[in-house]
Amino acid sequence: MLIDTHSHIYSEDFIHDRDEALQRAYESGVKKIVLPNIDSGSIKHMLDLSEAYPHLCYPLMGLHPTSVDEDYKEELQAIEYWLERRKFYGIGEIGIDLYWDKKFIEEQKEAFRYQIKLAKKYNLPVVIHVRNSFEETYEIVKEEQDGSLNGVFHCFSGSEIEATKIIELGFLFGIGGVVTFKNSTLDEVLKSIDISNLVLETDSPYLSPVPKRGKRNESSYLMYIAQKIAEVYNVPVARVAEITTSNARNLFGI
Ligand code: NI
Repeated sequence: MLIDTHSHIYSEDFIHDRDEALQRAYESGVKKIVLPNIDSGSIKHMLDLSEAYPHLCYPLMGLHPTSVDEDYKEELQAIEYWLERRKFYGIGEIGIDLYWDKKFIEEQKEAFRYQIKLAKKYNLPVVIHVRNSFEETYEIVKEEQDGSLNGVFHCFSGSEIEATKIIELGFLFGIGGVVTFKNSTLDEVLKSIDISNLVLETDSPYLSPVPKRGKRNESSYLMYIAQKIAEVYNVPVARVAEITTSNARNLFGI
């Protein structure tokens, strides 16, 4: 059994075959899928799917950094509205993204810190998105880490030094398709990270692993990531499944 800890399978990319994609995931061994939110526009799609598949899909609530702009306070109100009304399994995805645009960097930092405080208030883990922003993201998590905070650095593809800092924070690493890319050095960096710190994710519909690279990603491709990690650590795939599933269950309470 595997758990996909990061999938946007509620997105429009699956409008024609969502049920089939979930079926393929289930048959491939992916028995639970964690759904991170993006912004107020994605909440309904995500919740509809979670209600249709309550034993397969587990929603998170949060505002994605690339959806932070001058109206972010209203967006955060929508996030809080839902947190008060329904069970969620974490706050996500949240973080800082300076890849496309640095215009709203201050707003991104504020929204990130605010949502970390929500995670503490609701006693939930955080799912963190980092893109060209490790130092900025790390500083905030470090300041807010009072021992009560836990979570995952999703789509980790950083350096050994960054990995060490994440371990010191007591956070997990979300490992996805990047680990299978030929030009990636993540497999080398992973050698400095104990396998006990990992969870698996697809980030579907993005970042398909080899041999599906370039195609739409879906949760059934999680097996390719598990296989690559088994190779990197030289352990059976069943052991990778056991460790990462147990970590995901503990983190999200699923
Ligand atoms: Ni995502």
